[in-house]
Formats: sequence, structure tokens, C-alpha cells
Amino acid sequence: MRIPFIAGNWKMYKTVHEAVVFVKELKLVVKDVTGVEIVVAPPFTAVHAVAEAVRNTNVGVAAQNLFWEREGAFTGEVSPGMIKGAGAEYVIIGHSERRRLFGETDAIVNRKVIAAIGAGLTPIVCIGETLEERERNETLPVLDRQIKDSLDRLTGDQIAELVVAYEPVWAIGTGRTATAMQAGEAHAHIRQRLRQWFGADAADRCHVIYGGSVKPDNIRELVAEPDVDGALVGGASLEVRSFADIVTRSRPAAV
Ligand code: 13P
Repeated sequence: MRIPFIAGNWKMYKTVHEAVVFVKELKLVVKDVTGVEIVVAPPFTAVHAVAEAVRNTNVGVAAQNLFWEREGAFTGEVSPGMIKGAGAEYVIIGHSERRRLFGETDAIVNRKVIAAIGAGLTPIVCIGETLEERERNETLPVLDRQIKDSLDRLTGDQIAELVVAYEPVWAIGTGRTATAMQAGEAHAHIRQRLRQWFGADAADRCHVIYGGSVKPDNIRELVAEPDVDGALVGGASLEVRSFADIVTRSRPAAV
């Protein structure tokens, strides 16, 4: 049984101070919430302070990127071990903004995923088609390529533990959410491929979450889809109230 997984991707927002103020409030608001995994992904600068502020609570911490090497002359980069040492348990890898603006390919994503797992971090691996690809009817082949190449060389046991985020690029920051049906179709396809390539157990345990203009008023219909296991939330994760509402409404029993 997969419990809903809700992660807030703060992108390049919030200073250390703002981040700590946010999680101090969030942890109080969600302290009695059970049956949902809650994660926030601050910028690198705030990862340690946020991890300290949420220690021993039901809120986990993710970084938004990493570099695959353990250490060395890689100016500006941060290693998996450093992220783990700063107190994060998760790391977002291959977000479409990194693919588009920073040239990340599936091969790069794959190296990062393997390095993250090696350091004991849980990767949140982002995949998703662009608007042009959807309009050319290439959504499913694009997803196939991204799954195959980004998750290359992983074992079924590793797949079981990771989180795949389906984020159609055209739905990110646009207010244009995929309909529950569009999300449901893509998620069912992703799950089927995971089953085919990594086995039934891996596919049944892997969380496949949706990202792209998720808000308190559309989370319920998205998670009502059987293969949508939660959400990666951008804009609506920057306010405690809207993020907490998404968290509470993602639970199956939520009314
Ligand atoms: P928005 O929720 O702002 O559309 O961002 C989605 C996203 O990119 C999460 O990683």
C-alpha cells in the first residue's frame, strides 16, 4: 500500500530565515497528520537549517539537485554525501528546469540517481513531455525513453524505494494542470513500464507522483486516480496554508 507522498519544491525561493520560519509553522500545522509523507525541498543554502528545524517531526527534507562525484575540484557543485550530511533524506533529480536551463540529459540524470542511492538518499526523479511533444502525440514514447535512460542499471529493489515525478512541462508554473484523466493515463503507463522493466513488486511499491500547477482545489481529483500517489508542488508550496491544505486533502480518507 502506497501512502500519498507530497513534496514542496521551493525552487529558487526563500532565504534561510524565511525557510526556517516556514517550517516552524508547517510542522505545527501538520503535526497530527498521519498517512501521508510530507517533504519540503529548500534551496541548498537552507537545507541544513530546515533539517534541524524539522528533526523528529513528520516533515522530511529534500535537496533540489546534486553532483555525482563524492568530492573534488567541481566548483559550485554539491555531493550526495554533503546533502546527506546536511540532513536531507531525499533529492529531486532531473527537474525539467534543470533539463532545459542547465542541459541535463537522461544520461546525466541516471548518473545522479545512482550516486544519490549510493549515498543513502531517496531520489525524486522527474520526467515529463513538452507541449510540442504532446501535440505530436509523442508523450508515451518520450516517457518511455526518460524512464529507460534515467533509471538505467537500477535494480527492482532500488526502483521500489524511489519516487518518480511525472511533470508535464506545459503544466509547470502555467496554471494549466493536466486533467485528472491525462495524469491518470500517463501514470498508468509509467507504472506499466516499471512493471515490465523492473518487476511487479518494484512497480507496486514505487511512488509515482504528479507535478504541474497542483493546488488545494485540484489535489483531490488528481490523487483519486489509482496510479497518482501524491504530488510535487511548486508555487502552492510556498505558503504554509496552501501546502498544508494539499497535504491534508491528499489522504484517501480526506473529506
Ligand atoms: P508549479 O506547481 O508551480 O506548477 O511547479 C511544479 C513543479 O515544477 C514542481 O517541481
